[in-house]
Amino acid sequence: MKPVKVGICGLGTVGGGTFNVLTRNAQDIARRAGREIIIAQVATRHPNPDVDTGAVAITADVNDVINNPEIDVVVELIGGYTIAKDVVLGAIANGKHVVTANKALIAVHGDEIFAAAEAKGVSVMYEAAVAGGIPIIKAIREGLAANRINWLAGIINGTGNFILTEMRDKGRDFADVLAEAQALGYAEADPTFDVEGIDAAHKLTILSSIAYGIPLQFARCYTEGISKITTDDVEYAEELGYRIKHLGVSRRTEKGIDLRVHPTMIPVARPIATVDGVLNAVMVNGDAVGDTLYVGAGAGAGPTASAVVADIIDLARTFDAPAEASVNHLAFNDIEDVAVLP
Ligand code: HSE
Repeated sequence: MKPVKVGICGLGTVGGGTFNVLTRNAQDIARRAGREIIIAQVATRHPNPDVDTGAVAITADVNDVINNPEIDVVVELIGGYTIAKDVVLGAIANGKHVVTANKALIAVHGDEIFAAAEAKGVSVMYEAAVAGGIPIIKAIREGLAANRINWLAGIINGTGNFILTEMRDKGRDFADVLAEAQALGYAEADPTFDVEGIDAAHKLTILSSIAYGIPLQFARCYTEGISKITTDDVEYAEELGYRIKHLGVSRRTEKGIDLRVHPTMIPVARPIATVDGVLNAVMVNGDAVGDTLYVGAGAGAGPTASAVVADIIDLARTFDAPAEASVNHLAFNDIEDVAVLP
């Protein structure tokens, strides 16, 4: 079988993790994918001390990857909206499949990106964009495909959950824990995305789009973060038998789909109240299956790379029939039918 050649754009926390997982587990990955997956080129402006790139070609210019005729799959791990968007649209225009972990890009520009991919007959995969290592997009799109989804709710920002957990367990100061989350590679480049709920709103937008078949509507999500939560709030909640968790919740209502992200008091006996640290947890309720619960690391190099590489393997498995393998998101419900509430 012809190998699949990938070009990685970005060698930060997630890019480095992806490089290392693809290299470390190459044999098993090749068996699962049915063909070898080769890193043909990496675009990065900064070396990553945790990565030995060996003989792999390195460039500082992402255009070298996008325009490299050998590369089949471009893996966008730069983050943000600007260069990342050019990389994704440029790769699609050149007929390459795309794997990305970029929730901001998908939540805000996903409809445009998926339309471009459809027109070119290529796939855009983004399992790593939501809940890090938890395969929640595959779970909803594949495992629960038979269901009418009634609601979903979860802890979908690892940095925020890490901060709330450390404040509760160790009485630590908010800013101090945030600095540690940044050092551990959990936080966004702009950490206000984590603590003001924007990152969780991006993820909820994406999950809800898949769950209910609606267009991506980030601007319609009610968004509130954890920046105003104090150690006293966390302690008082505990005294009352509750735990403060930052949740993303979406549900069908008579008027449409309600999307909201905010801190929530949860009784300590509920399973989701015990999900601590950088862990994420997502509950999904479907009309046939009932309640389901998914738990795992929501951020960090290894867990996010796990999801990125799973997408690359999925593409590689069906590489000879990419048009059929296309899993681009397409809204199937009229917005009038299931409108997102303002
Ligand atoms: N900053 C994000 C988080 C990274 O903490 O959840 C993973 O999406």
